[in-house]
Amino acid sequence: MYHIISIRDFERSDLDHLLDRAQEFDTGNYRPGLLDDKLLALLFFEPSTRTRMSFAAAMGRLGGKSISVDSVEASSIVKGETLADTIRVISSYVDAVVLRHPKEGAARLASEFTSVPVINAGDGAGQHPSQTLLDLYTIRQSMPIDGIDVGLLGDLRYGRTAHSLALALSLYDVTLHTVAPGGLEMPANITLELRERGMEVIEHPSVEEAIRELDVLYVTRIQRERFPDSASYYDVASSYRITTDLLDDVKERLMILHPLPRAGEIDPAVDCTPYARYFEQARNGVPVRMALLHEVMK
Ligand code: NCD
Repeated sequence: MYHIISIRDFERSDLDHLLDRAQEFDTGNYRPGLLDDKLLALLFFEPSTRTRMSFAAAMGRLGGKSISVDSVEASSIVKGETLADTIRVISSYVDAVVLRHPKEGAARLASEFTSVPVINAGDGAGQHPSQTLLDLYTIRQSMPIDGIDVGLLGDLRYGRTAHSLALALSLYDVTLHTVAPGGLEMPANITLELRERGMEVIEHPSVEEAIRELDVLYVTRIQRERFPDSASYYDVASSYRITTDLLDDVKERLMILHPLPRAGEIDPAVDCTPYARYFEQARNGVPVRMALLHEVMK
């Protein structure tokens, strides 16, 4: 695979191959210096901690180097430069580009203006494929993905991690349970697509109703920055929160995941329970991104 833009471009065998490679990187089973002659550009036109740092860490671990643009304000975009021009120029300096951008479709557009691989690190409310790979990787370390029940909780309308993950899980034998505040449900076209791919999708009014059936609960933050105004954000803010008393009768193997950052959706008291796996999930960003970077630049 050349560009990594959307989970829609992947078949199950592509995902499984990358997850197997990530496992090799995770266990140190690789030759040092695999990308030591390569240079990566990190273009982040939206805030990021984990994604940017773990791509840089992954590149460094493979012996490569990275250069970055960390904000719109610090780039020529403020002078009116188009994304197409920015990408055309930057891709002539490097061997691959990682792009995060507030507009859905930006990574696909960028890939049309460059001869080097583009990795989508989040395009607005669109997709976030590298996050999905580390989500799958984290699940697969504890249980086979086939046959499980996964709950997606939170902002399923604007949450790109939820969109990518749901589409990826539809390539496995997974039952999907969704719980979203009013107005933040999964877009109808995505739910339709999941069902057309043969996935059972069950909508629940509350997490309490679904949680005992789940093997994985994937919690997401309300994507405040995508809301048209702050009043509509405050209408739904704080409408759900995972606390320890919700976890009384859950399956023993339940994993609670979250792409992070969290903004109140998970009580920190949950961190000390065996169900909390989100910090381990974030850590898995490095071996998974090593596998991705190696795949597109080898
Ligand atoms: C996510 C994102 O940027 O979509 N963050 C991440 O990459 N781990 C989730 C979020 O911001 O809520």
